Parts: sequence; structure tokens; C-alpha cells
Amino acid sequence: MARTSAIVILLLALASFSQNELVVSGHSICQKTSSGADRPHSVTITEFGAVGDGVTLNTKAFINAMYYLTSFADKGGAKLFIPAGKWLTGSFILVSHITLWLDKDAVILGSMISDNWPVIDPLPSYGRGRELPGGRHRSLIHGSNLTDVVITGDNGTIDGQGIIWWNWFHSGMLNYTRPHMVELIDSKDVVISNLTFLNSPFWNIHPVYCSQVVVQNVTIIAPLDSPNTDGINPDSSDNVCIEDCYIRTGDDLIAIKSGWDRYGIDFARPSTNITIHRLIGETNVSAGIAIGSEMSGGVSEIFAKDIQIFNSKRGIAVKTSLGRGGYVRAVYISGVTLKNVQVAIEFNGQYGEHPDETYDPQALPKILEVTIHNVTGDNVTVAGHLEGIKGDDFLNICLSDINLRVTSGSPWRCSYVGGFSDFVSPDTCRPLKRKIYPESNCYLLSNNLRSVSIPNRIPRWKSW
Ligand SMILES: *[C@@H]1O[C@H](CO)[C@@H](O)[C@H](O)[C@H]1NC(C)=O
Ligand SMILES: *[C@@H]1O[C@H](CO)[C@@H](O)[C@H](O)[C@H]1NC(C)=O
Ligand SMILES: *[C@@H]1O[C@H](CO)[C@@H](O)[C@H](O)[C@H]1NC(C)=O
Ligand SMILES: *[C@@H]1O[C@H](CO)[C@@H](O)[C@H](O)[C@H]1NC(C)=O
Ligand SMILES: *[C@@H]1O[C@H](CO)[C@@H](O)[C@H](O)[C@H]1NC(C)=O
Ligand SMILES: *[C@@H]1O[C@H](CO)[C@@H](O)[C@H](O)[C@H]1NC(C)=O
Ligand SMILES: *[C@@H]1O[C@H](CO)[C@@H](O)[C@H](O)[C@H]1NC(C)=O
Ligand SMILES: *[C@@H]1O[C@H](CO)[C@@H](O)[C@H](O)[C@H]1NC(C)=O
Ligand SMILES: *[C@@H]1O[C@H](CO)[C@@H](O)[C@H](O)[C@H]1NC(C)=O
Repeated sequence: MARTSAIVILLLALASFSQNELVVSGHSICQKTSSGADRPHSVTITEFGAVGDGVTLNTKAFINAMYYLTSFADKGGAKLFIPAGKWLTGSFILVSHITLWLDKDAVILGSMISDNWPVIDPLPSYGRGRELPGGRHRSLIHGSNLTDVVITGDNGTIDGQGIIWWNWFHSGMLNYTRPHMVELIDSKDVVISNLTFLNSPFWNIHPVYCSQVVVQNVTIIAPLDSPNTDGINPDSSDNVCIEDCYIRTGDDLIAIKSGWDRYGIDFARPSTNITIHRLIGETNVSAGIAIGSEMSGGVSEIFAKDIQIFNSKRGIAVKTSLGRGGYVRAVYISGVTLKNVQVAIEFNGQYGEHPDETYDPQALPKILEVTIHNVTGDNVTVAGHLEGIKGDDFLNICLSDINLRVTSGSPWRCSYVGGFSDFVSPDTCRPLKRKIYPESNCYLLSNNLRSVSIPNRIPRWKSW
């Protein structure tokens, strides 16, 4: 009898671990921005001559629409409505105070001709294109120095048709770094929501040097073996909130970054105050939530809660290298469920990958105050690979309430790390064995873990 009910509970648990739908329960924690739904003016892309047959190239229609929409900037902004259809286009640039709205069954298709993706300068915090020296192809949907921009709809689709780019990548035919799907530079008050992103050539959503960004209720899909199709990469950006996303791609689902080696150190724009809430996803080669490896401008105040990662290489990863400089600190990740994951938690101080060979090996990244709390995992191969840098230990790494069903005989491997732990199973490695007590310097944790509910210790999460 007891055995039967245990099986029933297990089956219920498995059934509730839904692999294909968002568990949208409980309330939102992303601050709603006022903009978006109710623009006083609206135009439709067909008014600019666009044809939704999947064959006609509509770049000019998008450019003309954006030019026209600038005239509503001081009148509450305007909406560009994309109706059902397949709207083929090259890269185009958004303007401020607009809503790009994709109706149900509207698909914006990225052109499969590289000339339709102009080449632009590298980002100053990277010094060069991420995969090749020099410039980079401009993202399909691009914007710079914008304010009050909404990209949303009724689950319309943006399909980058990335296969052509992945083939150019594999056959060495790229001349410049591949384009992202959406990149917004130096912008604020941005909302990206209620859409599906398919087959990005490179990263999907890249806010860089941005502030006040909400990404909510998006589905991001690319083949599990597509190269570098990261989901959402906040980069040198602050006050970013990512919520209710389902992401299945060929690289990190969410990667928080801030520039590359000396370029990122000199540019010195950190990523800070980034919240990730209710993420579900799968990545065969990379991590559910990653920080780095480009983190040279610094990364701090990262909060993640309610994360479900399955069939993946890694759950949580912090990646860095000699030469990066910068820091990762004040990270709090809580409520993680893993299933069929090879490495639950990875810290990698030897990631490598440099923009050029002139990096300064004395530029040591500082990794400290990373708290990982309340993680359960089923069919996890290894609990933790925690590898800091010799002479530059990663400190105050705190693990609490972690319960993993691990298949490997040596669940933890740790070097050049230090910190604290409580209630970790399987038992953690020696550098983290000290118990968490009030002066432990664990970010947002101290003793009495069990008697006080965690969210109440965090003022900004009081409403959870
Ligand atoms: C950015 O936008 C502001 C107004 O919103 C303008 O004053 C400024 O010149 C713009 N900067 C660039 C580099 O375009
Ligand atoms: C998510 O988006 C879909 C359409 O894409 C919409 O029907 C649904 O209400 C949205 N959910 C939330 C919580 O916004
Ligand atoms: C939106 O469409 C995608 C792909 O068609 C689908 O997988 C997803 O479940 C849809 N999302 C919602 C909220 O309806
Ligand atoms: C790279 O440049 C060569 C020579 O101009 C050109 O034939 C090729 O199409 C370019 N590749 C891409 C992906 O644009
Ligand atoms: C997403 O769609 C739902 C349903 O239409 C709507 O209530 C919600 O406000 C939308 N969310 C955003 C952030 O646009
Ligand atoms: C997942 O990755 C492994 C190792 O890189 C590879 O052998 C396998 O084919 C991949 N599976 C999928 C579905 O891409
Ligand atoms: C953190 O970012 C959120 C937006 O995601 C914002 O509402 C909040 O005020 C920010 N907190 C601080 C301390 O700046
Ligand atoms: C631990 O995480 C699980 C899964 O997200 C959640 O349901 C549970 O409430 C969390 N427990 C605590 C004490 O935060
Ligand atoms: C356990 O996870 C691995 C991937 O890490 C997967 O290949 C294997 O099929 C899983 N086993 C079960 C019983 O689900």
C-alpha cells in the first residue's frame, strides 16, 4: 500500500514536471511598464507595401513603416501591426515609442541572403565580433539608443531561418560574426513578450547597455545541435526581468554577460539587478542559467527562482578565465529542479576563449558570494564541478538544501573554491563543508535557514 502510494506520488511528480508548457502559476514579479498595449495610433505593415507570401522581401516596407512611426513619438507612440502571413525581411531598425505587434500566425522570416544583414561595428565591450575579428552582421530586429519599445503579440513568430548561418558557420564560410535575432543597444524601457522565436542565426535576444528590460512569456526554440543559439543574454545591462520563458536551444538558455577581457574591463559597464523567474528549458550542450564567460565589466545582484532544467549538460554555470578581470558577486539562485542533467552546478575558471592573444593574465576575475539554495535533481550525473583559479579562489560559495540523485561515484570535484554549506546531499566537498552560520558571508543566507522562510529575508521579494 505504502509502496503503491509512493509510486503514485512519483508518477504525479513526473507528470507535473511538464516538458512542454509553461507553468504559469502565481503572480508576476516583473514590474509592469505602462507602455505597450494601448498605443493611440496603429498602422499595418501592408500599408507600406509588404506582401506576406514568404517570398517577397519586405525590408523596405519595415524601414518605411519605422520612418513613418517616428512622427508619433511625441503623441504616445504607435503600433505596427503584423497580420497573419509570412513576412520575409532583412535586418531592420526599430524607433522609439513603438509596439511591434505580431498577430497569431504572423511570422517574420529572416532573409537567407547574408547581404540583407548589413555589417556593423563590433561592440566596444567586445572589441571585435564574438566569433570572428572585425564587424558583425546586424541583428534581424535591431535598435540603438531607443526608449519605450515593445515587441509583442498574440504568440506570433520570429523565425531567423538560421540553418543557412549554421551551415556557413560549420563550413567556415562566414566573413563576419553571425547576427542575433533581436539586439537592442543603449536602450531603456523595453518589453519583449508573448512571442515565439525560432531558429536564430546566433543568440536570440541580446539587450546590451540597456536598462529596464522585461522579457516575459516567450518561447525560444532552435535545434539542440544548432551552434550558439543562446536564448536570452542580458549583457552590460541593468534592471532586467525575465519571466515565464520556455527555451530549448543549442547553447545557454540564459547567459548573463558584461564584455570580453580588456575591452569589457575598459568599457566597465556591469550587468546588475537581473531577475529570472520561472524558466523551463533544455540545452544539450550548455547550461540552463550561465554567468559569463564574458563578465569583464562585472556581474552582480542576480536573482533566479523557480527554474526547471531537463535533458541538459549543465544546470547552473559560472564561466570565466584568466584575463577576464571583472567580478561575479551577489548571486542568489533558489528553487531549481533538474532532471537528466549531467552537471548540476559548474564553476569553471579555465573557460579560455579570448578576443586576442594580448590578454593580461594578471587580470583575475573575482568570483564571490554565490548562493545556491533549494535544488532537487533526478538522474544527475555529477553534482558539482567547482573549479576556481589558482591564486584566485572563488569565495563564499554557499550551497544549502540541495538534494540530488546522482549516478556518478564521485559527485563533487572542487579546487580553488571556498564557502559554506548546509543540508547538501550527496555530501559536498571539503572546501565547502563549513556550516552556514550568521557570519558566513553567504549572500542572503545565514543561520536558522529552516525556521525563517527565505523570501522574507529579501526585501525586494517580500511579495513572493
Ligand atoms: C540618443 O537619443 C537622445 C534622445 O533620446 C539624443 O539626444 C541623442 O543624441 C541620441 N544619441 C545618439 C548617439 O544617437
Ligand atoms: C502568454 O502568451 C500567450 C500568447 O502568446 C497568451 O495567450 C497568454 O495569456 C500569455 N500568458 C501570460 C501569463 O501573459
Ligand atoms: C506559442 O507557439 C509556440 C510554437 O507554435 C508553442 O510551442 C507555444 O506553446 C505557444 N505558446 C502559447 C502560450 O500559446
Ligand atoms: C564571404 O565572402 C565571399 C567572398 O566575397 C562570398 O562569396 C561569400 O558569400 C561570403 N559569405 C557570406 C556568408 O556572406
Ligand atoms: C501577454 O498576453 C496576455 C494575454 O493577452 C496579456 O494579458 C499580457 O498583458 C501580455 N503580456 C505582456 C507583457 O505583454
Ligand atoms: C547531445 O550531445 C551529445 C554530445 O555532444 C551528442 O552526441 C548528441 O547527439 C546530442 N543530442 C542531440 C539531441 O542533439
Ligand atoms: C531592479 O530591477 C527592477 C526591474 O526589473 C526594478 O523594478 C527595481 O527597482 C530594481 N531594483 C533596484 C534596487 O534598482
Ligand atoms: C524549493 O523549490 C521548489 C521548486 O521550485 C518549490 O516548490 C519550493 O517551494 C521551494 N522551497 C522553499 C523552502 O523555498
Ligand atoms: C539520465 O540522463 C542521461 C543524460 O544525462 C540520459 O541519457 C539518460 O537516458 C537518463 N536516464 C533515464 C533513466 O532517464
